[in-house]
Amino acid sequence: MDILSHLKKGAFLTTKHNGKVNTMTISWGNIGIEWNEDVFITMVRDSRYTKNALDETGEFSVTVPLDDSMKKELVFCGTKSGRDFDKIKECGFDLIDGKVVDVPAIKCHSLVIECKVIYTQRMEEVLINPQMKEAFYNSGDIHTLYHGKIVAMYEV
Ligand SMILES: Cc1cc2nc3c(=O)[nH]c(=O)nc-3n(C[C@H](O)[C@H](O)[C@H](O)COP(=O)(O)O)c2cc1C
Repeated sequence: MDILSHLKKGAFLTTKHNGKVNTMTISWGNIGIEWNEDVFITMVRDSRYTKNALDETGEFSVTVPLDDSMKKELVFCGTKSGRDFDKIKECGFDLIDGKVVDVPAIKCHSLVIECKVIYTQRMEEVLINPQMKEAFYNSGDIHTLYHGKIVAMYEV
Protein backbone atom coordinates (compact mmCIF):
# COMPACT_ATOMS: atom_id res chain seq x y z
CA MET A 1 0.00 0.00 0.00
CA ASP A 2 1.31 3.45 -0.90
CA ILE A 3 0.57 5.07 2.47
CA LEU A 4 2.23 8.39 1.67
CA SER A 5 0.13 9.07 -1.40
CA HIS A 6 -3.01 8.49 0.68
CA LEU A 7 -1.67 10.66 3.52
CA LYS A 8 -0.99 13.50 1.07
CA LYS A 9 -4.69 13.60 0.24
CA GLY A 10 -5.50 14.16 3.93
CA ALA A 11 -5.87 12.19 7.13
CA PHE A 12 -7.46 12.66 10.54
CA LEU A 13 -5.23 13.23 13.58
CA THR A 14 -7.44 12.38 16.53
CA THR A 15 -6.95 13.08 20.25
CA LYS A 16 -8.99 12.53 23.38
CA HIS A 17 -8.55 14.85 26.33
CA ASN A 18 -10.72 14.98 29.45
CA GLY A 19 -13.15 12.65 27.69
CA LYS A 20 -13.53 14.93 24.66
CA VAL A 21 -12.60 13.51 21.27
CA ASN A 22 -11.33 15.97 18.64
CA THR A 23 -9.84 15.48 15.22
CA MET A 24 -7.94 17.70 12.80
CA THR A 25 -6.82 17.21 9.22
CA ILE A 26 -3.17 16.62 8.41
CA SER A 27 -1.50 15.88 5.10
CA TRP A 28 2.12 15.87 6.23
CA GLY A 29 3.80 13.24 8.36
CA ASN A 30 6.79 10.96 8.55
CA ILE A 31 6.95 7.24 8.98
CA GLY A 32 10.30 5.86 10.11
CA ILE A 33 12.36 4.13 12.72
CA GLU A 34 13.89 5.70 15.85
CA TRP A 35 15.52 3.89 18.76
CA ASN A 36 14.45 0.63 17.05
CA GLU A 37 10.82 1.70 17.27
CA ASP A 38 8.45 2.30 14.34
CA VAL A 39 7.31 5.91 14.54
CA PHE A 40 4.84 8.31 12.97
CA ILE A 41 5.90 11.94 13.28
CA THR A 42 3.23 14.59 13.05
CA MET A 43 3.71 18.38 12.86
CA VAL A 44 1.24 20.47 14.84
CA ARG A 45 1.24 24.26 14.96
CA ASP A 46 1.09 26.22 18.23
CA SER A 47 -2.38 27.55 17.47
CA ARG A 48 -4.09 24.14 17.18
CA TYR A 49 -6.50 23.01 19.87
CA THR A 50 -5.10 19.54 19.19
CA LYS A 51 -1.71 20.64 20.53
CA ASN A 52 -2.94 20.97 24.08
CA ALA A 53 -4.50 17.50 23.99
CA LEU A 54 -1.27 16.00 22.66
CA ASP A 55 0.80 17.75 25.31
CA GLU A 56 -1.52 16.57 28.06
CA THR A 57 -2.15 12.97 26.99
CA GLY A 58 0.75 11.90 24.75
CA GLU A 59 -1.54 9.71 22.66
CA PHE A 60 -3.09 10.04 19.22
CA SER A 61 -4.51 8.08 16.34
CA VAL A 62 -4.14 8.77 12.63
CA THR A 63 -6.92 7.65 10.29
CA VAL A 64 -5.71 7.65 6.68
CA PRO A 65 -8.73 7.27 4.37
CA LEU A 66 -8.09 4.87 1.51
CA ASP A 67 -10.77 6.31 -0.78
CA ASP A 68 -12.33 9.71 -1.49
CA SER A 69 -15.40 9.28 0.72
CA MET A 70 -14.14 11.70 3.41
CA LYS A 71 -13.28 14.68 1.17
CA LYS A 72 -15.87 17.02 2.67
CA GLU A 73 -15.07 16.00 6.25
CA LEU A 74 -11.33 16.51 5.66
CA VAL A 75 -12.03 20.09 4.60
CA PHE A 76 -14.26 20.73 7.63
CA CYS A 77 -11.81 19.24 10.13
CA GLY A 78 -8.96 21.13 8.47
CA THR A 79 -10.63 24.53 8.73
CA LYS A 80 -12.66 24.42 11.94
CA SER A 81 -11.27 24.18 15.45
CA GLY A 82 -12.35 21.88 18.22
CA ARG A 83 -12.42 25.02 20.37
CA ASP A 84 -15.52 26.14 18.47
CA PHE A 85 -17.06 22.93 17.15
CA ASP A 86 -17.73 19.37 18.19
CA LYS A 87 -16.31 18.13 14.89
CA ILE A 88 -17.20 14.51 15.61
CA LYS A 89 -20.86 15.45 15.96
CA GLU A 90 -20.89 17.99 13.12
CA CYS A 91 -19.42 15.42 10.71
CA GLY A 92 -21.60 12.59 12.02
CA PHE A 93 -18.53 10.41 12.52
CA ASP A 94 -18.77 6.92 13.92
CA LEU A 95 -15.75 6.12 16.06
CA ILE A 96 -13.88 2.89 16.64
CA ASP A 97 -12.11 2.33 19.95
CA GLY A 98 -8.34 2.31 19.90
CA LYS A 99 -6.83 -1.16 20.29
CA VAL A 100 -3.97 0.09 22.47
CA VAL A 101 -4.41 3.81 23.08
CA ASP A 102 -7.35 5.47 24.79
CA VAL A 103 -8.11 7.44 21.63
CA PRO A 104 -10.61 6.33 18.98
CA ALA A 105 -10.18 6.43 15.22
CA ILE A 106 -12.66 7.71 12.64
CA LYS A 107 -14.67 4.83 11.18
CA CYS A 108 -14.16 4.72 7.40
CA HIS A 109 -12.25 2.64 4.86
CA SER A 110 -8.81 3.54 6.12
CA LEU A 111 -5.46 2.67 7.56
CA VAL A 112 -5.43 3.38 11.29
CA ILE A 113 -2.17 4.14 13.08
CA GLU A 114 -2.23 4.32 16.90
CA CYS A 115 0.65 6.17 18.57
CA LYS A 116 2.17 7.01 21.93
CA VAL A 117 4.42 10.08 21.93
CA ILE A 118 8.04 9.30 22.78
CA TYR A 119 9.67 12.57 21.75
CA THR A 120 8.35 16.11 21.44
CA GLN A 121 10.26 18.97 19.89
CA ARG A 122 9.10 22.46 19.02
CA MET A 123 10.95 23.61 15.90
CA GLU A 124 13.65 26.22 16.45
CA GLU A 125 12.98 29.19 14.19
CA VAL A 126 16.69 29.88 13.70
CA LEU A 127 17.21 26.41 12.30
CA ILE A 128 14.54 26.68 9.60
CA ASN A 129 15.82 27.26 6.08
CA PRO A 130 15.05 30.93 5.18
CA GLN A 131 12.94 29.99 2.14
CA MET A 132 10.86 27.54 4.18
CA LYS A 133 10.52 30.12 6.94
CA GLU A 134 9.27 32.71 4.47
CA ALA A 135 6.87 30.23 2.86
CA PHE A 136 5.45 28.57 5.96
CA TYR A 137 6.12 30.68 9.08
CA ASN A 138 5.53 34.29 8.10
CA SER A 139 3.09 34.70 10.95
CA GLY A 140 5.04 32.57 13.44
CA ASP A 141 2.76 29.72 14.52
CA ILE A 142 5.62 27.26 14.68
CA HIS A 143 5.18 23.49 14.42
CA THR A 144 5.94 21.07 17.20
CA LEU A 145 7.05 17.62 16.08
CA TYR A 146 5.42 14.77 17.96
CA HIS A 147 7.23 11.50 17.44
CA GLY A 148 4.65 8.80 18.09
CA LYS A 149 5.71 5.24 18.68
CA ILE A 150 3.38 3.12 16.51
CA VAL A 151 1.66 0.76 18.94
CA ALA A 152 -0.96 -0.58 16.50
CA MET A 153 -1.58 -0.30 12.76
CA TYR A 154 -4.45 -1.94 10.87
CA GLU A 155 -6.81 -1.51 7.93
CA VAL A 156 -10.48 -0.85 8.55
C1 LIG B 1 -5.11 19.36 3.95
C2 LIG B 1 -4.80 19.98 5.29
C3 LIG B 1 -3.66 19.58 5.97
C4 LIG B 1 -3.33 20.15 7.22
N1 LIG B 1 -2.19 19.75 7.87
C5 LIG B 1 -1.87 20.29 9.07
C6 LIG B 1 -0.70 19.87 9.76
O1 LIG B 1 0.06 18.97 9.35
N2 LIG B 1 -0.41 20.48 10.95
C7 LIG B 1 -1.20 21.47 11.48
O2 LIG B 1 -0.90 22.01 12.56
N3 LIG B 1 -2.35 21.86 10.84
C8 LIG B 1 -2.70 21.28 9.67
N4 LIG B 1 -3.84 21.67 9.03
C9 LIG B 1 -4.73 22.67 9.64
C10 LIG B 1 -5.60 22.09 10.77
O3 LIG B 1 -6.23 20.89 10.35
C11 LIG B 1 -6.67 23.12 11.16
O4 LIG B 1 -6.05 24.30 11.62
C12 LIG B 1 -7.65 22.60 12.19
O5 LIG B 1 -8.76 23.48 12.21
C13 LIG B 1 -7.06 22.49 13.60
O6 LIG B 1 -8.04 21.93 14.43
P1 LIG B 1 -8.00 22.03 16.03
O7 LIG B 1 -7.93 23.51 16.40
O8 LIG B 1 -9.30 21.41 16.45
O9 LIG B 1 -6.81 21.28 16.47
C14 LIG B 1 -4.19 21.11 7.79
C15 LIG B 1 -5.36 21.50 7.11
C16 LIG B 1 -5.67 20.93 5.88
C17 LIG B 1 -6.94 21.35 5.18
